[in-house]
Parts: sequence; structure tokens; C-alpha cells
Amino acid sequence: MNPDGSAQDPEKREYSSVCVGREDDIKKSERMTAVVHDREVVIFYHKGEYHAMDIRCYHSGGPLHLGDIEDFDGRPCIVCPWHKYKITLATGEGLYQSINPKDPSAKPKWCSKGVKQRIHTVTVDNGNIYVTLSSEPFKCDSDFYATGDFKVIKSSS
Ligand code: FES
Repeated sequence: MNPDGSAQDPEKREYSSVCVGREDDIKKSERMTAVVHDREVVIFYHKGEYHAMDIRCYHSGGPLHLGDIEDFDGRPCIVCPWHKYKITLATGEGLYQSINPKDPSAKPKWCSKGVKQRIHTVTVDNGNIYVTLSSEPFKCDSDFYATGDFKVIKSSS
């Protein structure tokens, strides 16, 4: 039990931050890939902000580092190159458009499926970029391609 009376989650892990490169380099390339504690991630530098997420798309494992960044509903998203799913850079939400079929004149509205892609934390220290893996214990769809049998890179241990 935690001091506040809540139960401790045995799945929750804390990861140390890992240096993945230099700020100068990512500012030029605007994206980079890295392996952090055996997990493959992509880091984007977009409009002055850093974002890191699992590199394989939650839908079918598409390579997000090869996608374009576009705004949808005012939110910057990576567009997966395989089937064009849109994932918000800031939160990892899957976005989709919906219409009310009973109202043919209605404009499609952008909606969220919730968090589908695991987002990691980026920090900058002394010109170096660090990524800290998410330790949030919720099950995220992108975990499927980042762990287990479908993981692209294999654990060295
Ligand atoms: Fe990304 Fe299908 S694999 S949209």
C-alpha cells in the first residue's frame, strides 16, 4: 500500500533517462530514432517542441518515423505512412472524423479514440536529448508492437 492508502501497482516500472543524441542534430533533421531500454522510439522536433513515442504504429506496426506531420483540428499529428491513421504528437491519441448519418448537411467532426500510441518524455540538458520511457501502467495499443513477439528489435538479454 502507498502512504495515501492506494494499492501499489506491481506493473509500474521506473526507467532511467537515456541520452539519444544532440539537440543541434535533431533541430536540423526534425526527427530521429533511438533504442531506449530495448524499446524503439521516434523523437520529433516540431515547431519548437520535442515529442517521443513508440516507433511502430498502434494499428498494424507501421513505421511512424517515415510519416508526415500535419495539423488536424488544430492538433499536430503524425500520419502513419501505411494506412494514414492520425496520431497526436502531444498525447498519442488516435483521431478520426465522424458524421451524423441522420444529418447529411453536418460537417464531419474530429473525434478521439483515446490514447493509442505510448508517449515518452523528452528532456534537454546541456545540448543533449534524453528520453525517459513512460512508466504509466495502462495498457496502450502500441505496446503490442513494442514488446513481445511482434517487437522488431530483439532483446539482447
Ligand atoms: Fe499505421 Fe495502419 S499501420 S495506419
